[in-house]
Amino acid sequence: MDAEELDELAQRLQGRALGGWGLLQLAAGTGLAAYAVWAAVLMPGFRRVPLHLQVPYVPSNAQQVANAMALLEGRSGKMVDLGSGDGRLVIEAYKRGLRPAVGYELNPWLLRLSKYRAWKAGCDGKVSFLKQDLWKVNLSDCYNVTMFLAPSVKSPLAAKLLAELPDEARVVAGRFPFPSWTPSSTIGKGLDQAWAYDMKEVRQAAQSSAEGSPV
Ligand SMILES: C[S@@+](CC[C@H](N)C(=O)[O-])C[C@H]1O[C@@H](n2cnc3c(N)ncnc32)[C@H](O)[C@@H]1O
Repeated sequence: MDAEELDELAQRLQGRALGGWGLLQLAAGTGLAAYAVWAAVLMPGFRRVPLHLQVPYVPSNAQQVANAMALLEGRSGKMVDLGSGDGRLVIEAYKRGLRPAVGYELNPWLLRLSKYRAWKAGCDGKVSFLKQDLWKVNLSDCYNVTMFLAPSVKSPLAAKLLAELPDEARVVAGRFPFPSWTPSSTIGKGLDQAWAYDMKEVRQAAQSSAEGSPV
């Protein structure tokens, strides 16, 4: 191999190394951009929530809202939506007489949208949307609880609800049921299905299964 050939080989190798480096930069840039979109637009405010407890925003449709409200028909007392999104369930619950009606949400864009929707619906100042982590709020004075959350968080959520809710509380879960609880009623089909759980019954069932289980 003469000097000219060696020179050519060196140039080719350099070209390849640059290509690899370029690719690496591109991948890092794309990853960073995706993270920026996720952190700033889709999940802002979630920095302190452990990854396995994070639930993305998927608004409930009109049928899902109607089904959740049907399961709260005739009830009274404080209503909360855990992860209230754009506030649609809270506003609807208020219109149906549940007071106070409160939404807990961490995404500041959705909180702004909720307040705008409340103003548009004529219940500005009558419903509350609070920037609070649903895992950290105390639920001991809540009698009507709605949630449209992912199946992955149902088990830790069940433990929290059992520990905090009063016996008279009713929990309405949309899209996915609590796998270890028996609902007192259910309505709808497929992803529109909603399940109602009365805490007194849920507690009694949990207690009798604990008593029946071998020591
Ligand atoms: C599937 S969406 C449901 C939104 C609304 N409830 C509805 O049915 O239209 C779940 C919502 O929970 C919110 N969320 C998730 N984790 C939360 C947390 N730890 N604290 C407060 N909100 C949370 C998300 O930002 C998202 O808006």
